[in-house]
Amino acid sequence: MNVRIAPSILSADFARLADALALAEAGGADLVHVDVMDGHFVPNLTLGPPAVRSLRKATRLPLDVHLMIERPEESLAEYLDAGADWVSVHVEATNHLQRCLDMIRRAGAKAGAAINPATPTVMLADAWADLDYSVVMSVNPGWGGQPFLRPSFEKVRRLHAESRAAGSRLSIEVDGGVGMDNAAALVEAGAEILVAGTAIYGTGDPAEAIGQLRDAARSSVRA
Ligand code: DX5
Ligand code: ZN
Repeated sequence: MNVRIAPSILSADFARLADALALAEAGGADLVHVDVMDGHFVPNLTLGPPAVRSLRKATRLPLDVHLMIERPEESLAEYLDAGADWVSVHVEATNHLQRCLDMIRRAGAKAGAAINPATPTVMLADAWADLDYSVVMSVNPGWGGQPFLRPSFEKVRRLHAESRAAGSRLSIEVDGGVGMDNAAALVEAGAEILVAGTAIYGTGDPAEAIGQLRDAARSSVRA
């Protein structure tokens, strides 16, 4: 399996995001994870379409934009227009998941649905055909640096089995508390994209940490 590493710039210095992007490139990252928070769906606030537009110009890596915002259908077009390459919306935040996924794909981006720790995988059961990836939240979204919730291993396994049984090839992304200690087990469970903020930007050498995380993920038997 081809594991992708997606550094989350939420844990980087927001006054030096260009440096964070350069470190992601130097470390061989596959995607850059961009956390958009609206102060409503989650208590925290981060950035919006103008910042995504600037980030898009500042790196050749694809931007994986994680929308933690209420009613994403109302502002999706702006994020797509800003150059987001992969976009995930939360199933808890919209009554119109299929419309959102369709909008994302029509814009030529990869469409993803994210589920919070207490949201069951069955919420994705009628959306397989519209999904390129799903995001299993392994912390309650809002902040970086929270501890990994262990039931997420089983959730990834279940989502992997359910999607394959339904004929879907979607990629499973895991977001929250991912690091050297759980990367291999997550890949073993079926994860293909590992998001990591603190485990990368919280270290003295983020570029090196990306390589170490990739090596740890590759040590899994499935990889
Ligand atoms: C959490 C965000 C994550 C966060 C992960 O709400 O969606 O992407 O940046 O940070 P770490 O890896 O520190 O848990
Ligand atoms: Zn995220």
